[in-house]
Amino acid sequence: MEQTEKPRWYDHGRIERNITLLLILTFITVSIGGLVQITPLFYVSNTIEPVEGMRPYTPLELAGRNIYVREGCYVCHSQMIRPFRDEVERYGHYSLAAESMYDHPFQWGSKRTGPDLARVGGRYSDAWHVQHLIDPRSVVPESIMPTYAFLAHRPVDADIIEDDLVTNVAVGVPYSEEMIENAKADLYAQAGASDDTSGLTERYGDALNIRDFDGNPRRVSEMDAVVAYLQMLGTLVDLTDFEPSGPGR
Ligand code: HEC
Repeated sequence: MEQTEKPRWYDHGRIERNITLLLILTFITVSIGGLVQITPLFYVSNTIEPVEGMRPYTPLELAGRNIYVREGCYVCHSQMIRPFRDEVERYGHYSLAAESMYDHPFQWGSKRTGPDLARVGGRYSDAWHVQHLIDPRSVVPESIMPTYAFLAHRPVDADIIEDDLVTNVAVGVPYSEEMIENAKADLYAQAGASDDTSGLTERYGDALNIRDFDGNPRRVSEMDAVVAYLQMLGTLVDLTDFEPSGPGR
């Protein structure tokens, strides 16, 4: 059949035959789609559902976290329990976004050579952790985890902790002036190196682990910091009757 009608400007055949026109129109369409998704995010202050119990890490926990990152523990351990039945039965309640809101950088991880650690806090004794870090095979014979015995001999570097809090403030962690000023004292107080812990609990709450974590009262070691960090993981938020909110629930 002979085509009599002249092609109009909006004729799709014409768009498909003209590569430049096709690219320009594709670009415009994709841009609109992108803007529709991104623009609303500029108008909400927070995309993380707030949960009770979350607080910034104490100076000792933060020091332990730094060592965790420095030693590459995240290479073998994730800190994110996915909402699947097998994971929830093994590790506990699935992780909430708010639980890693003060992690810079986050420790979700992408590989599990060892188990997920998001809720390891309180699952073992301090002594177990110390022994496991000194010699993993002495408590789990088939373990392939490296030894970290040197952590027990290295004093924790408390001189940088104040600056570390300041840096965290720069990326949005709500440490107060008072927390920053007392960072070093709070670090030692939590490791059991001082009798006065009232300031520490005033600033970070009563639900804190305060003790000599590594079993060596003469030194606040990197072991103290790492164990304090591990014992806190997953314990801040009480999830016994947590109900997720949001559309469709
Ligand atoms: C080469 C991989 C590897 C690295 C690196 C590694 N781990 Fe492990 N980790 C494992 C494996 C495998 C297991 C399971 C066997 C065991 O318990 O030792 C494990 C187990 C653990 C457990 C016990 C978890 C549980 O629920 O039973 C803790 C706690 C732990 N690791 C902490 C750490 C810390 C802290 C670091 C860094 C200082 C670290 N790991 C580095 C492989 C690793």
